[in-house]
Order: sequence, then structure tokens, then C-alpha cells
Amino acid sequence: MTQSRIPVAAPDLTGNEENYVVDAIRSTWISSTGPYIQRFEHDFAGLAGTRSALSVSNGTVALHLALLALDVRPGDEVLVPSLTYIATANAVRYVGAEPVFIDVDPANWCMDPRHLEDAITPRTRGIIAVHLYGHPADMDFINQIAAVHGLWVVEDAAEAHCAQYKDRPVGGLARVGTFSFFGNKIFTCGEGGAVTVNDPQLELRMRTLRGQGMDPKRRYYFPITGYNFRLTNVACAMLCAQLERREQILRERRRVYERYMRQLGDVPGIGLQPMSPWARITPWLFCITVEPAYGRTRDELAAQLDVRGIETRPFFIPLHTLPPFREGARRRKEALPITDHLAAIGLNLPTYTSLNDSDIDRICDEVRRFRRG
Ligand SMILES: Cc1ncc(COP(=O)(O)O)c(C=O)c1O
Repeated sequence: MTQSRIPVAAPDLTGNEENYVVDAIRSTWISSTGPYIQRFEHDFAGLAGTRSALSVSNGTVALHLALLALDVRPGDEVLVPSLTYIATANAVRYVGAEPVFIDVDPANWCMDPRHLEDAITPRTRGIIAVHLYGHPADMDFINQIAAVHGLWVVEDAAEAHCAQYKDRPVGGLARVGTFSFFGNKIFTCGEGGAVTVNDPQLELRMRTLRGQGMDPKRRYYFPITGYNFRLTNVACAMLCAQLERREQILRERRRVYERYMRQLGDVPGIGLQPMSPWARITPWLFCITVEPAYGRTRDELAAQLDVRGIETRPFFIPLHTLPPFREGARRRKEALPITDHLAAIGLNLPTYTSLNDSDIDRICDEVRRFRRG
């Protein structure tokens, strides 16, 4: 019997997604006005514990909008982790600023606040903390350093919907929180994003910039140059259905995470994602590290799993080594040994709600069997 291929991620659209999308289409409210947008923004602000949430076209745009609203300009510097998706640093470039890379903490793989002060220069304006692979960054420590130096902080929570830091949800722990709803994310609408915010001034600025710069009190009058960063009522219809089932989606992801933890915890040479005591992670893509005691490299394991019909994904390539950023990183003599190490040995295993226990057992058996002891 041939076994079906296991993808690394898959959306869960088994609730009211289709009904609500059909409803949005039948209503003819298919652009960026409509009841699903209002409902989604209301519900999502509730989840982040913020005054407001604004839907936007994707998670990259969410970051871009936050940086525009914070008035980041050419020549400014923004501190970002190097172990993240490229969108975090690309958004900094969109506003003409320079990302300066910070190493991650081996205790949680998020930006290590102990390295921030060394990287601050007179040009530094702010910090983007990324909640990597579902684990929140150490926000109190980061906010405290930012306050001392007069910097703003943005949380990139693209991969960590509903994760908690000291019992508080991510998205409301800094000036702006940003989220992605790409197809592989915890909640999805295919392509989509959101910003979460408490400061009414900043909210108004983001609202205006999102809608071509139109004056909220005067239709078709444009006092500033804005953007079309809006999300559609159709996409928000899907998100409303996702949020209705959020507990179920999170529960199934935790089931997958816990089963992997139990089965892989004792495989020599396989490391698991560390968790800080104040963190409640939301499982995104399950993470392992392939250490020398495993007797095979990360890439050998990934190739073997691929042959066995199991898709995986290597950790992010460190941004400071990629062509758009490496010259700047070299000039600043950035050394990021923890990032480099994790990127070389880290692997994401399939994680999604419909991944059943026997699929997980099969993946873990393959990992265990391929070890050369
Ligand atoms: C950490 C991080 N930031 C930003 C993004 C960008 O989101 P999007 O793909 O929706 O533009 C992603 C994911 O794709 C991400 O993982």
C-alpha cells in the first residue's frame, strides 16, 4: 500500500469558512467594506487584548504599515533578529531604513535582549521583536531597554497567534503587533494580515495610510500619500470562521506538538524547541535540531524524510548572510553564532490540525530509525 505524502503545513477550513465566503459573495460585499471585516477586526482585537485591530493584505504589509506609521525614515536603523522570515527585514528596507541584526537567545530562539545595547547607535529608532516559531520574545526586557533609549518596539507575531507572554497575549505588548494569515499560519485566509494597536493616534495614522491616505472625516480628500493595504470582506469571512473555531484549532495543534515532544524527547541527537518559563507557545511548525549525536546531518534527515513522503522545512537562512543584507552586516562586523548554529541544524516537521496520531507516529519512527548510533 502506498502511503500518502505528508505536507509540512495545511490549512484547516472545516468550519464555516465556505458558508461565510459564499455569504460574502452573495451579498456582493467583496471588496474592503463589509460586515465580516468589522466582525473580524473586533474579534481579533479581543484576542490580542488591544483597543483595535486593522486587517491588511498580508503580514509583510502589516510590518510596512507599522513602520510607516512610526515615521521610520531613510538612514534610520531598526534592530531585528536575523533568525526570522525575510519579511521582517524587507519591511525595514521599504521605508529606506537599515535592519541591524541581533543574535537569538539559546533559551528560546527569539531576539536576545542582552545584545541590544551594543547594537544601538544614534541612528537607531526602534526594535522589531519576532515571536519565532510560536514562542514569544522576552518583551518586558526588550521594552525596558527600548524605554531607556527612547526607541519604539513592534511585535512581529506572524507565527504566534494567541501565544502568551507572562499570561498576556502577544500583539498587545508593544506599540504595534503584526500578524500574518498566510496559508501555513495558525489562522489563515490564504493571504492576509493584521496590525494590533492601543494608541489611538497610531491607530488613526495606520487607518489613514492603509486606505490611500484618505481623510477619515472627508471622503475622497487625501491629505497624505497613502497606500492600498486593505483586506477584503471575502478574506475576513474566512478569518471569522477561523476565529470561531480558535479553541479547537489551538487544541489540535497542541495535540500534535505534545505527541512529537513525547516521542522525540528521548531520541539521542534530536533537540527540541526550548521554552522560557514565562512563555505559553502556540505550536506553529514543530521544531527539532539535529545534533552530532544523531549521526546524520539535518540535510540528510530532510532528504530521507522526503524520500519517505514527509515534507519538512529547514530553519530560516540567517538574514545577515543573504545577498540584500550581508554587506551591511559585514560592515558592522555582526557576529551571530547562535543564529548561525540553529539555522544549520534546525528542521520544521509537519504541523497542522488534521495531522493524525498515526501520521505523527510514522514521522517519529522515520526520525528514530534513520539515526546512525
Ligand atoms: C516572522 C514573519 N514575519 C512576517 C511574515 C510575512 O507574512 P506574509 O507572508 O503574510 O506577508 C511571516 C510569514 O510569512 C513571518 O513568518
